[in-house]
Amino acid sequence: MKLQAVKGTNDILPEQDARWRSVVDAAAEVLGTASAGRLTTPIFEHAEVFEKSVGDSADLVVQKEMYTFEDRGGRRLSLRPEFTAAVVRAFIQHGMHTRPLPVKLWSAGPAFRAENVQRGRYRQFHQVNLETIGNATPLADAEAIELLYRTLARAGLTRHRIQLGSVGDPEDRAAYNAYLREALAPHAAELSEASRERLRLNPMRVLDSKDARDQELIAGLKRPLELLGDEARRHFDAVAGYLTAWGVPFEVDDSIVRGLDYYRRTAFEVHYVGIGAQSALGGGGRYDGLVELLGGPQLPGIGWAFGIERVLDALEQEGRGEAAVEGPVLFLVPLDDAAVGEGAALARRLREAGLRVEFAYQRRNPGKGLKDADRAGARYAALRGGSERERGVWQLKELASGEQREVREDELAPLLQAGAPGATKEL
Ligand code: HAM
Repeated sequence: MKLQAVKGTNDILPEQDARWRSVVDAAAEVLGTASAGRLTTPIFEHAEVFEKSVGDSADLVVQKEMYTFEDRGGRRLSLRPEFTAAVVRAFIQHGMHTRPLPVKLWSAGPAFRAENVQRGRYRQFHQVNLETIGNATPLADAEAIELLYRTLARAGLTRHRIQLGSVGDPEDRAAYNAYLREALAPHAAELSEASRERLRLNPMRVLDSKDARDQELIAGLKRPLELLGDEARRHFDAVAGYLTAWGVPFEVDDSIVRGLDYYRRTAFEVHYVGIGAQSALGGGGRYDGLVELLGGPQLPGIGWAFGIERVLDALEQEGRGEAAVEGPVLFLVPLDDAAVGEGAALARRLREAGLRVEFAYQRRNPGKGLKDADRAGARYAALRGGSERERGVWQLKELASGEQREVREDELAPLLQAGAPGATKEL
């Protein structure tokens, strides 16, 4: 049997690493300017952390998307399907409510959902996540959304769009769900199976259906945004007001419902046209009540997550694909046996000085050695045999120009560190 990565999981190859890290670095930089601290939680948690928080009707639970297993001690554990519940668990466990509020925590790492695999939808994927805990004002929502927008811009995106909605307060949700149940009850038999199930558990989620017939049935119905209570409406208007004032481009989306049950009021997504059906780069919202639900103090929260794989896909659409792996600046070629150890020792010293240096592991003739250096992507090759040893030098050759000079070992580090294209000429 040929061993392969598990379906829905991906290897991140060296040539993808620079792009990958640049997305996480953009988050560290932008979120750091807003005093968010990085929190790294374990990849698995007690299953109830997620079961309690995402809600009975969430896809994660209903469609059994969580990877839950029993360990040898009989504990029920889940690979995290998202960060929010784990971050809130850590916030409570470490008594962070005593810190100046709000506490802003960001995270990055893998998450796991047993989903149907397609472009942009994997079983192990990666998220950058931000949570702001302890402030209920619309200003905190606008700040979080602005940070999401700017993080993606800093990562290199220019065509991402924020869609802003509201799922209302719990009583608004209840009223809307009752409205949908009543409106759809006569057509229940015509709905897709998934939507019939949603109609039973969380009618709002029927709006998210991709099924064409479902969409026809709900086309004429009122949207959550039309049935907001006064407070949720004021909150929504204030968030929109800040974003407008700050010049953050967004569109009002009256039918954002989100797939997790903990949301209250503000709900938003960020989309990117051109990466296929899974065009949501990220999403989030307010989750007042969740901290308490998980056993903590009564504190509100707002946050978001974006999927790194989808952002990388979008970056590729913008012509910012993989960067070539940087080759070594110097490749050492031993022309006799004694030079093999000398080359390795010199490489070690130069690496200590921070230079990227590679060497041949065995004696080479000059032609083969230069070919090795070229294949490794090196800028210079340095060769040494008996006559160079006698004079205490290496023959340094710039591969692109073919220019060659003799250099002493102690001259190499400063020369390469200067890195000037004409460096060899000045010798
Ligand atoms: P979510 O909408 O479930 O929200 O996921 C956020 C983003 O993660 C999605 O927009 C998508 O880019 C990415 N994502 C989700 N599932 C997959 C998958 N199977 N394959 C690839 N990418 C995926 C949450 O996770 C919430 N915890 C966000 C949040 C934070 N709300 C409040 N705070």
